[in-house]
Amino acid sequence: MHETKDRVRVQITDAEKQRWEVPYDLLPREPSPPLGPATAGGAPFTAGEYPGQDLVFTYGRDPFWFAVHRKSTRQTLFNTSRAPLVFKDQYLEVSTRLPGDAALYGLGENTQPGGIKLRPNDPYTLYTTDASAINLNTDLYGSHPVYVDLRNIGGRGVAHAVLLLNSNGMDVFYTGTSLTYKVIGGLLDFYFFAGPTPLAVVDQYTAMIGRPAPMPYWAFGFHQCRWGYHNLSVVEDVVENYRSAQIPLDVIWNDDDHMDARKDFTLSPVNYPRPKLLAFLNKIHARGMKYIVLIDPGINVNSTYGVYQRGMDRDIFIKLDGQPYLAQVWPGPVYFPDFINPNGASWWIDEVRRFHELVPVDGLWIDMNEASNFCTGKCTIPTTHRCPDPTSKEPWLCCLDCKNITNTRWDEPPYKINASGKSARLGYNTIATSAVHYNGILEYNAHSLYGFSQAIATHKGLQSIQGKRPFILTRSTFVGSGAYAAHWTGDNKGTWEDLRYSISTMLNFGIFGMPMVGSDICGFYPASPPPLEELCSRWIELGAFYPFSRDHANFASPRQELYQWQSVARSARNALGMRYRMLPYLYTLNYQAHLTGAPVARPLFFSFPDFAPCYGVSRQFLLGAGVMVSPVLEQGASSVDAVFPPGTWYNLFDTSKAVVSTGSGAAVRLPAPLNEVNVHVHQGTVLPLQRGGTISRDARATPFTLVVAFPLGAEDADAEGAVYVDDDERPAMVLAEGQATYARFHAAVRGGREVTVLSDVALGSYSMHKGLVIEKITVLGLHGAGKDLAIQVDGADDATAVATSSPYFAAADAAQVLRQGEEED
Ligand code: NOJ
Repeated sequence: MHETKDRVRVQITDAEKQRWEVPYDLLPREPSPPLGPATAGGAPFTAGEYPGQDLVFTYGRDPFWFAVHRKSTRQTLFNTSRAPLVFKDQYLEVSTRLPGDAALYGLGENTQPGGIKLRPNDPYTLYTTDASAINLNTDLYGSHPVYVDLRNIGGRGVAHAVLLLNSNGMDVFYTGTSLTYKVIGGLLDFYFFAGPTPLAVVDQYTAMIGRPAPMPYWAFGFHQCRWGYHNLSVVEDVVENYRSAQIPLDVIWNDDDHMDARKDFTLSPVNYPRPKLLAFLNKIHARGMKYIVLIDPGINVNSTYGVYQRGMDRDIFIKLDGQPYLAQVWPGPVYFPDFINPNGASWWIDEVRRFHELVPVDGLWIDMNEASNFCTGKCTIPTTHRCPDPTSKEPWLCCLDCKNITNTRWDEPPYKINASGKSARLGYNTIATSAVHYNGILEYNAHSLYGFSQAIATHKGLQSIQGKRPFILTRSTFVGSGAYAAHWTGDNKGTWEDLRYSISTMLNFGIFGMPMVGSDICGFYPASPPPLEELCSRWIELGAFYPFSRDHANFASPRQELYQWQSVARSARNALGMRYRMLPYLYTLNYQAHLTGAPVARPLFFSFPDFAPCYGVSRQFLLGAGVMVSPVLEQGASSVDAVFPPGTWYNLFDTSKAVVSTGSGAAVRLPAPLNEVNVHVHQGTVLPLQRGGTISRDARATPFTLVVAFPLGAEDADAEGAVYVDDDERPAMVLAEGQATYARFHAAVRGGREVTVLSDVALGSYSMHKGLVIEKITVLGLHGAGKDLAIQVDGADDATAVATSSPYFAAADAAQVLRQGEEED
C-alpha cells in the first residue's frame, strides 16, 4: 500500500489467523486505511495513487519475493529474492540484497564501537535489555528496528529508510551486501520512507511514529545528578557549589536516594524530610531552577505501602499462572504494573498525581523499565533468609527463590535470539516471557513495549497535573517513544572509549525520532584507575553540546560534579557558557524537531548528503544544519583532526578564525587546548545567540546577537536562520496567535559591501518578554577592513557599520526589535 506519497507499507501476515501486532492505540500514528484481506487469486495489496510517488513495489509468487525500487534513480532499495522468506509461528525470516556501497545507520539500541555507520558482520539484536552501555554490539535498553540507507549516486546522496514495525525480539544480520531479519513473532510489517534527503526521511518517519515531544526551555539547561546524594544537605551543597563556581546549572536530580527504602513515590523521613525538601524546592524554584527524581516500575510487595495496596486493589500487575509476577529490583520483591492495561495506566497516573502533591517535581525519570529484574524465571519469597538482606553490599543480586521456566514455547522459543550477547534465555533478568498482560497479551510479544507504555502513562500523568509540557527521561524506548520522553544512553563508564561511543548513540536516537538525548557526562561507572580530571574536561566540552546535557555517576564513583576540579570548572564555564548563549538556537531546533522530526544533533551527512567523506564521521556532529562540534576524544591531545564539508566555517568562540574547506575530505588539525572545544558555524547560517547566564530563565531574557556567516570574501551570498519564542509552559509547542513567535532571518550581501538583514516575523503577538531585542548583528566573511560598508536592517539604513581590522569580520550594532509588538522596545 502506498500510504502517502512518500511511504510504502508492505505487510505480510497470516491470512487466516490473527497475529500479534504492535498495538496501534499505543502509537500516535497517522490514521491509515486498513489493509484489505489477502484474497486467493488477487494481489494481496492495494496500490494507492499519489502523484509524484517515487517508490515502486513489485513481487513474485512462486517462490514469493518482493522488492521496492526507486523510480527516479532506477535503484533497487529492497529485494527479498536472494533467499526464501520464512513465515512460521515463532520464526520469521526475510533477507534483502544491498549494494556494497550503501551506508546504513540505525538498528538500535546498541553501543557501536565502529561508529555511526553500521559495520558489516557486527551483530544487531533488538530486544529491550538492562545491559549496560559498556557492552558493545549487544541489545541494550531500546528496540528500534529501523535503518536509514544512504547511497551516493553520481555524486548525489540519496536516502531512504526501512522500518520493520515489530515488537518481538529479533536478530538482524548485516553483511555489507545483504541484510537478514530473524524475528521470533508478530508480522512482517515493513514501511519504506522515500526520502530522498536524510531530513526528508526523518520527517516522513516521525510523521508516522509520532513527532518528537516538545521539551521545556529549561530542559536545555545543564543537569546534575548522582546516585548517592545520601541526604538533602548534600544536594543543597551541590547547588550552592555550582553557583559559587559560576557554572551553569538548571536542574538538580535525585536518583533513588530521596526514597524511603527505595520505594517509588515516597520520601525518606530521615534523609529527605518533606518540610525541608519543600523549603529547598521553594528556594530553587524561585531562582528558576528545577528538580527531577527517579522512579522505577517495580512496586515493592509490601502490605503497608499504599502504592502497592492500591495497585493490588485495582489488579493491575502483570501475572504468571494467575498470580502477580514476582520479581526483585532495588526495594526487594516487586510486582510490575501493566501499563498496557488501561486500569494500570490510570492507577499510575493517579500515583504520579499523589506524588506530585507530596513533592512538586518538575519532571520524572523512569529507569529500569526494560523491565529490569535481578532474578530470572518463576520466583517466590524465600522463607530461609531475608530478601533483600539489608547488610548486603550487592543489592543487585537475586535473593528470591527462583526456577527457570522450561516448559513453555514462550520461555524456550525454537529460535534463540542473541539476547544479552550470550544467547541467554529471553526472560534472563527480566519478566518471564510466558507472563501475561491485560487481555491475555503475552510478555513474549509485548516485552519491548514496556518502557514505551510507561512513558505514555507518565506523560499523561504529568501533563494532567501540571497542565504544562512534561519532561520525562526514560531508559527503555521503542518506535515512537520520542513523542513522550527524552533518553539518556544508560550506564557508561568514565573511559575515553565511552566518551567516543556516546556520539554515535546520540546520533542514532536523532534518527529514531528521539532527539532529546545525551550520555552520562564524565561517565557513570568509575574506571580504574580513574582518568577523571582530564576526561571530565573533555567530556563536558562534548556534553555541553549533547541535546540533553547531564552529569551523572554511580554511588561507587568519585565525586564528579564539574566544580570538583579547577580545570574542569574552567572547561565547563567555557563550553556551557557557549551552550547557554546558544539556548535560543537549541530551543528553535527543538521546535523544528517537533514540527518535522529534524534531529537536534545530526550526523554531518544530514546537511551534506552529497559529501561522501562525511558518511562515516562519528567523532563530530552538527547541531541543527550549520553548527559543527569537533571535540577532543583522546587522552593527552591538544589538537583535534576534523573533517570540514565544503565552505567557510567560523570558530564560534573566536570568529576571526575560519576554516575554508574545498571539500577534499582531508582532516584539518585544529588547536584544542585542555579548556577549549572547537565549535564552528557554517556559511549561510544566521545564528541567534543571547548573552548567556547560569540559569536558562535568566539567559533567555537577555538581548540577542545574530551571527551572520557569509563565505569568506563573499561578494554575493545569502544566509538564513530562525528563532522560535514562546512561554515554555503550554503542553503544545505550536505557532498560534498569542502563544508564540517564529522569526525568520534572511541576510544577503551584494557586491561585497551592501549587506541587508531582513526579519520575517510569523505571528508577533507573543509578548511575555518585553524588550527582547537584537542588540548586535555580527557579519562574518566580508573583507571589511577599512571598507565603507552599507548595512541595512529591516529597511532602515541607519545601523552603524563598524569594520574591524580582521579580514573576516564586520559588525553592525543595531537595536532591532525581534518581535514587532505594539510598542517598539
Ligand atoms: C540504573 C540507571 O541506569 C542509573 O542511571 C541509575 O543511577 C541506577 N539505575 C540507580 O537508580
